[in-house]
Amino acid sequence: MGRVAELAGVSVRTLHHYDEIGLVQPSARTPVGYRAYSADDVERLREVLAYRRLGFGLREIADLVDDPATDAVAHLHRLRGLLVAQRDSAAAMVTAIDRELEARTMGIRTTPEEQLKVFGAQLYELIGSAYPATRRTEPRIAARVWEALGDARTVLNVGAGTGSYEPPDREVTAVEPSAVMRAQRPAGAAPCVAASAERLPFADQSFDAAMAFSTIHHWQDPIAGLREMRRVARRVVVFTHDSSDAGWLNRFWLSRDYLPEVADLVVGRPTVDELAGAIGARLEPVLIPWDCADGFFEAYWRRPEAYLEEHVRRAVSVWTRVGPQAERRAVERLREDLVSGRWAERNGELVGLDAAELGLRLLVA
Ligand SMILES: C[S@@+](CC[C@H](N)C(=O)[O-])C[C@H]1O[C@@H](n2cnc3c(N)ncnc32)[C@H](O)[C@@H]1O
Repeated sequence: MGRVAELAGVSVRTLHHYDEIGLVQPSARTPVGYRAYSADDVERLREVLAYRRLGFGLREIADLVDDPATDAVAHLHRLRGLLVAQRDSAAAMVTAIDRELEARTMGIRTTPEEQLKVFGAQLYELIGSAYPATRRTEPRIAARVWEALGDARTVLNVGAGTGSYEPPDREVTAVEPSAVMRAQRPAGAAPCVAASAERLPFADQSFDAAMAFSTIHHWQDPIAGLREMRRVARRVVVFTHDSSDAGWLNRFWLSRDYLPEVADLVVGRPTVDELAGAIGARLEPVLIPWDCADGFFEAYWRRPEAYLEEHVRRAVSVWTRVGPQAERRAVERLREDLVSGRWAERNGELVGLDAAELGLRLLVA
């Protein structure tokens, strides 16, 4: 153990801890009966340490290294992809910081928005690992998306994440900028390219259809992204929400009564009508079933207790984006109102509904 610790540059205590929690257990024996690391154990330790250095938590690492579908070569490919993405994003940050330093020497102050853009695409690097806990295919909504794809044989899925809505019976290519999300795509999922919607690395009209599910609210420039989809595909299908007052904000009790900060997140963003107008799309409402299987923000509209669960909130970016203070206050108030019966009093009519119209829309062009 001492020798392995020295070679790996970690403490013997760390190795003991990994042994105790079953993450890396020395499985061989020395001639005198001491436990020792086999070549396979060392390989596993190397994977664990590499994921650790990339910022993964021990529990996530256990899931990653225990995945039976991923062999050593697949791990090396995945680690390489993650490291290259990390290097690229560090390089982008260095460039942005250099630009800001230059601007400051000339006496120009960058706007808060410009400063935050340095960290722009990083949100899912931060929260992505909590995503699969509750985010999965909702078959009734998937059916709507797949129907809208028509007879498309080749489909580009932009902002694909873990691929929950990729149709199983077509040739899919995925695009996903977050390395953490790409790394969580299941074995056998469609090939995934590291890129952003605003600059799709494909020639004009390369696909029969392009789809984007629950992602355009994250794009820096959603209209540019939609135009890119239009450029590379003959048909475009987008699932998103109507963030106007009439739609998302005021219809849904969670944003209306507990988390008004959601309104700040949509300030300056194009409305759903502007998005549709940019690519000549028609808008179709999508109702959310009461037992929606995909845990997006509005999914638990008839199951309010779900929002008290940390893992439910961590899989939805809104909660991270509003900040911990607003989150704590909203959860505390909701908890109080559920206990006192006030939530039921205000929202009693929801219990009788099987599906709700909360401003979710399909854009089809
Ligand atoms: C809420 S997740 C949805 C993932 C997937 N479409 C699904 O439904 O499970 C949003 C995804 O959009 C990705 N994303 C963020 N900015 C993007 C951009 N500019 N272009 C493409 N995807 C982006 C994030 O990395 C994240 O994986």
